[in-house]
Amino acid sequence: MENAPQMLEMFYEGKAKKLYATADPDLVIAYFKDDATAFNAKKRGTIEDKGVMNNRMSELFFTLLEGNGIPTHFVRRLSDREMLCRRLQIIPAETVVRNIVAGSMAKRLGREEGEKLKHTIVEYYYKSDALDDPLIYPEHAVLFGWATAEELDTIHAMALRVNDVLSGFLDQRGVILVDFKLEFGRHHGKILLGDEICPDTCRFWDKATLQKLDKDRFRRDLGDVEGAYHEMLRRVSN
Ligand code: TMP
Ligand code: ASP
Repeated sequence: MENAPQMLEMFYEGKAKKLYATADPDLVIAYFKDDATAFNAKKRGTIEDKGVMNNRMSELFFTLLEGNGIPTHFVRRLSDREMLCRRLQIIPAETVVRNIVAGSMAKRLGREEGEKLKHTIVEYYYKSDALDDPLIYPEHAVLFGWATAEELDTIHAMALRVNDVLSGFLDQRGVILVDFKLEFGRHHGKILLGDEICPDTCRFWDKATLQKLDKDRFRRDLGDVEGAYHEMLRRVSN
């Protein structure tokens, strides 16, 4: 077993995670919190053991993706709430992949939730709390220097690959991957998938009942939020 790297100063605190430096400038430790927010933190709460469950699920998904040739920031899980990751220079555009209409797409375009899209769509949102993460054209990211056109091509292709791998894996476990959000960053010039992949960042619907098994249970006060996270962890662990 490798030695656990030393946790040095916290250099970033987000809504769901804290990031700590290590002695190695290429590596950081992500600490997963139980804090839950929605609507750009206008709604706040906690989901018991969410940090533990999201750390485990992210480990599982990143390992699956790495095994399918998708480079990620994941190095290894260190403990219940800590993950060792490669340090990324995060690209300030969130990548959202949608297979089925839900959430902000339903609202923005006046469509019914649950409508199957003819093909998968990849959208980008500018990461800005002050602006409520607005939907952007990919060209905005190039114009304002957030990413190069080549980097966006790489991100687009990787996002579709992630969708294929995760959709197939989840389908076998009775789960529909409705949509999800990814973050990418640069590590020594190479684009890696970062952040986390979990019920905070994806919409998961049970294939048989269409029951929601994700953070929409918290966002919409549907109850049994912890139960949904536990159920997703159980399904992906099998
Ligand atoms: P949306 O329908 O609200 O735009 O969300 C699309 C997907 O992105 C959904 O799976 C939830 C995820 N998401 C995040 O991970 N973080 C966010 O801040 C938002 C708004 C959505
Ligand atoms: N995490 C986001 C926030 O609080 C929103 C969400 O996941 O719905 O801003």
